[in-house]
Amino acid sequence: MPVFAPMEPTTQLELHLAARMSRLGTETAFEVLNKARALERQGKNIIHLEIGEPDFDTPANVVDAGVEALRKGWTHYGPSAGLPDLRQAIADYVGRTRAVKVSPDEVVVVPGGKPIIFYTMLALVDQGDEVIYPNPGFPIYESMIDYAGGKAVPIQLKEERDFCLDVRELASLINDRTRLIILNSPQNPTGGVMTRRDVHDVAEAIGERNIIVLSDEIYSRLLFEGDHYSIMSVPGFKDRTILLDGFSKTYAMTGWRMGYGVMRSDLATHMTRLMTNSNSCTASFTQVAGIEALKGDQSSVDHMRDEFKKRRDVVVDGLNKIKGFSCRLPKGAFYVFPNITKTGWKSKKLADALLEEAGVACLSGTAFGDFGEGYLRFSVANSMENLKAALDRVNEWTKKNL
Ligand SMILES: Cc1ncc(COP(=O)(O)O)c(C=O)c1O
Repeated sequence: MPVFAPMEPTTQLELHLAARMSRLGTETAFEVLNKARALERQGKNIIHLEIGEPDFDTPANVVDAGVEALRKGWTHYGPSAGLPDLRQAIADYVGRTRAVKVSPDEVVVVPGGKPIIFYTMLALVDQGDEVIYPNPGFPIYESMIDYAGGKAVPIQLKEERDFCLDVRELASLINDRTRLIILNSPQNPTGGVMTRRDVHDVAEAIGERNIIVLSDEIYSRLLFEGDHYSIMSVPGFKDRTILLDGFSKTYAMTGWRMGYGVMRSDLATHMTRLMTNSNSCTASFTQVAGIEALKGDQSSVDHMRDEFKKRRDVVVDGLNKIKGFSCRLPKGAFYVFPNITKTGWKSKKLADALLEEAGVACLSGTAFGDFGEGYLRFSVANSMENLKAALDRVNEWTKKNL
């Protein structure tokens, strides 16, 4: 009978990662959330103001539609570009809200807003192509530009301009290698909003050049004053715009994973190929619920926006009373972005200290790019009670430490 010697533990083989992985960034919100959860496991009480998702439940009519869809068997693959009825509902909605004619073959439904960013880079950006993007801004833009081999060209959003881009600076950054310009209004993390005038100025700066605009309008229904205005509505820009919108923020459906892009139909065909190659399709029952979200009662959307506005007012007011903090009133989305330079602390260090010592999880402005230094981002997607408690904690902490 052979006697087997216990196996020697195998040496860890070196992991040969593809070079492109070194160019892939991340979204710090998820890392801070993990760190906060670890502190909670140690018994610490943390108020979560780091993650960007509505604290409300998905509206009941949408949940019911999803549950019914599951029971009716919407549990199989569907077309890669999305269910025809949902594409039609999105075409109608975007057509109505952006005052353009949209046909369903210009709509691609994807699992969340993020894939539209990823697919846009994969479909349009070649090695060395330049992409202008807002900084501070949603970190996935820069990460995806780099990953695709493009050159990420930041345009700084400045506080004194209410975090709206400077069109003269934009004009100076555009050159023959510029392939894509990313706009985001209402903006994450600053809450800045582009007015109709701003949008027309950007369109004018682009002029007749063959540049595509990725217009991230995922917060378009979270606007506290005025009307949302898209560059897609500017004459001549419909076919040069990829409009990104979705269900995550508007209908508190972050976990359902559903968003969409609206773009010229030939580009939509290529985006659909990327969907076929990566996800096959967005979950079918999720899409059925999406039809109800778009066509059903919209009162919960208005309710959430009104609540976010009340909380924004309380948080901005509270932050402005804290030593070293000053905060503008954001016009949209559900974040506030106070300037903390007068604390004398660097953003990351301050965010870490507030988490570990004050039990308030927020994000360093630098999580949104280098131009975020000097700022913190607090999400107001938490109860008024928790927001007030967080303000007290930050206030107490600054009294002790500044
Ligand atoms: C500006 C912006 N665009 C896109 C997304 C992605 O949304 P989704 O969760 O639907 O992928 C987010 C989410 O935080 C965002 O803030």
